[in-house]
Amino acid sequence: MAQKAIAVLTSGGDAPGMNAAVRAVVRSGINRGMKVFGVYRGFNGLLNKEIEEMTLRSVSEIIGNGGTMLYTARSEEFKKKEAQLRAADFCRDKGISGVVVIGGDGSFQGARALTEAGINCIGVPGTIDNDIACSEYTVGFDTAMNTALEMVDRIRDTAQSHDRCSIVEVMGRRCGDIALQTGIATGATAILVPEIEYNIERDVIARIINTQKTGKKHFIIVVAEGVGKVNDLAKYIEQRLGIEARATILGHVQRGGSPTLRDRVVASQMGYKAVQLLSHDIGNRVVAMRDGKIIDLDITEALGMKRVFDEELYKIAMTISI
Ligand code: ADP
Ligand code: F6P
Repeated sequence: MAQKAIAVLTSGGDAPGMNAAVRAVVRSGINRGMKVFGVYRGFNGLLNKEIEEMTLRSVSEIIGNGGTMLYTARSEEFKKKEAQLRAADFCRDKGISGVVVIGGDGSFQGARALTEAGINCIGVPGTIDNDIACSEYTVGFDTAMNTALEMVDRIRDTAQSHDRCSIVEVMGRRCGDIALQTGIATGATAILVPEIEYNIERDVIARIINTQKTGKKHFIIVVAEGVGKVNDLAKYIEQRLGIEARATILGHVQRGGSPTLRDRVVASQMGYKAVQLLSHDIGNRVVAMRDGKIIDLDITEALGMKRVFDEELYKIAMTISI
């Protein structure tokens, strides 16, 4: 019987820990007697035939590296049926029967399309946003949060020295998890996230005034990217309260850096699980974390799930950051 071959790619926004997941896929596959190909630049690599057979040593020394050694891309072309069929043909030509797709929701849609075109795919959640409904954790989230935490701590030093209000925008267009966790960990006076409707007077100004009354003179406001407008908010706070205010957009600093222990371990568990599924010729599944355990579920079911924001944690933050 021909040696089984699988492939691994990273797609969408990069996330710290993607390398650890690639390493786990390559080594688990080789351990099971499979050939493992690395696909460069997301789904584009299947269209442009940019693949390479990996060895145990191809993934040496990458577990601690940020970014992705396979590079990543957002491939508009792959959204077309014709491209998906071409990618599936290419996989068949190379004897590749399964692909591990490390990325976010968008990449999982690509994985489903490629499975429908005849190549078993398994999705592994890799995104700093933690915005994948079916999984309580996505690879990259812990590193991004800890980077944001360190940055906000630094900003607090200068805000405190000047008796200022610092407004910090963290990443997350549709998901406020980085903002919530960073906000609670830095004692932010206010946290604005896309999931919770806010009123500037009630949720920012009144909270600053109440805190001022107890003697506090510097304030941190953490705002998710999806809420944005941090420069406008700084101007409003200056005019409305006469407190000097500065806005900082942390941006892509949150996407880089060496992955934390948690990201390396979860990525390793998820990559291993993905290969286990492909070794049994199972496709169209997403690997996820539930109650701390690594599970798998159908991609369509996963994509249909609605993300639940942790309102309890938000309530705790609002109660104790006063
Ligand atoms: P993420 O995976 O981080 O959510 P994107 O939404 O940008 O990032 O999706 C990554 C890539 O997945 C896209 O550039 C495209 O190649 C592929 N993709 C997204 N949506 C689809 C779709 N409906 N059909 C096929 N491929 C898709
Ligand atoms: O999905 C990860 C993420 O970093 C989001 O937090 C952010 O909104 C987006 O990607 C930015 O994407 P890019 O700068 O790569 O276009």
